[in-house]
Amino acid sequence: MIEKLPRLEHDGLITPEVGQWAEFKYRLVWNYAKMFSSSMKSRWDARVYIDLYAGSGRSRIENTNIIVPASPLLALNIADRFDKYIFCDSDSAKISALKERVARDCPDINVCFVEADVNSNIEEIISKLPPYRRDFRVLSFCFVDPYSTKNLKFQTIQKLSEGYMDFLVLVPSIMDANRNIDAYYIHESNSAVDDFTGNPHWRDEWRSQRDRWDNFGSYFADLFGRQMKALGYLYNGLSDMELVRSIEKNLPLYHLAFFSRSKLGRKFWKEARKYSDDQLDLL
Ligand SMILES: C[S@@+](CC[C@H](N)C(=O)[O-])C[C@H]1O[C@@H](n2cnc3c(N)ncnc32)[C@H](O)[C@@H]1O
Repeated sequence: MIEKLPRLEHDGLITPEVGQWAEFKYRLVWNYAKMFSSSMKSRWDARVYIDLYAGSGRSRIENTNIIVPASPLLALNIADRFDKYIFCDSDSAKISALKERVARDCPDINVCFVEADVNSNIEEIISKLPPYRRDFRVLSFCFVDPYSTKNLKFQTIQKLSEGYMDFLVLVPSIMDANRNIDAYYIHESNSAVDDFTGNPHWRDEWRSQRDRWDNFGSYFADLFGRQMKALGYLYNGLSDMELVRSIEKNLPLYHLAFFSRSKLGRKFWKEARKYSDDQLDLL
């Protein structure tokens, strides 16, 4: 189970730089994808992996020459592949690099690429899913990896959640929401937090509860969790989420939040967290 992230040679295609902490995120999504796909293989007729913010498929770790596979290529690098992959990104240079890498490294898979803003094109993304029937049951795992609060609208998650779907969501709680609350998000004219959480009434709640929270980022992550709970997902509080910290200064950055409606999904998440921590000393 414990495997080091592969190290790759530069292939001349676009390879964005990421912080050192990104390796932990990659291990989590990789470990979860492996467990999910293998265990669900015989239980569902089709398993689908959706990467809403897929990027180009490879990343270079900042201040190093280390190149690693990013989320879409990690989800392909598993023993029991998903039956279908859907990769979306609004950046045409990144999605074309990803297309090239997938065609070169995994030519025989069932894959769709959507080059678009996920929030205004969610119906198109949903139309790529195999139709669910009573005799053809489809289960999906969706990785949601935005840069910042303004990149995701809760209604996108809400529409996807009408099907059978687990989510792993990067909630930009500290590095964005907490940093920008007083300058931007607290003002009614800025709807980024309203849109991300699907709750336009949070300001009064935050003002009445602010003494109870370490910072706005924790409140924001918990609000997102409660909104997912209202959609029927299991959520018991912030300890369900992984708080990711910077490697050098150990400063909190964001929460990685997993959501499933099934207890088995939560069991896999717990294991994925454990294995991803164990791998730190393999770096
Ligand atoms: C943090 S990167 C994610 C990269 C990838 N998941 C990885 O493993 O490295 C965020 C990506 O989201 C894309 N993006 C930002 N806003 C978007 C939107 N509204 N719709 C689709 N893609 C978006 C960016 O082009 C970028 O590639």
